Amino acid sequence: MIKKIELPYRLNDLEPYYSQETLNIHYNILYKGYVDNFNNVQEELIKARTENNFENIKCLEKNLSFQGSGVILHELFFTNMTPVISQNILSQGLFNQIIKDFGSLDSFKKQFDEASKNVEASRLGITCMGTKI
Ligand SMILES: [Fe+2]
Repeated sequence: MIKKIELPYRLNDLEPYYSQETLNIHYNILYKGYVDNFNNVQEELIKARTENNFENIKCLEKNLSFQGSGVILHELFFTNMTPVISQNILSQGLFNQIIKDFGSLDSFKKQFDEASKNVEASRLGITCMGTKI
């Protein structure tokens, strides 16, 4: 069973960039929903194993993945946001890679915004650098 993480700041600390109302919705309603649903699916999986009944395993595993992703993405969001503006500057390495891969920062932002809005309609996305993809 998982529990909600504590926010590392107050609900109104991200204003004016992120309103208290919006953060409250994402933390206390949406994120809470993902945590509760993840725990519910975990209980259903325990029941399936106990009863040796896996007829709904595809649905349960998809739900576990979806709800778990919602938990992880919200926790990444909450712990990467900060009231300190100076910490939001891109590292030179990430900036250089974005220019290499996307041609411009605007081109990257456009794709990132569209993907975040349209993939699973979550409005959440992650930018990361790797060497194996
Ligand atoms: Fe959210």
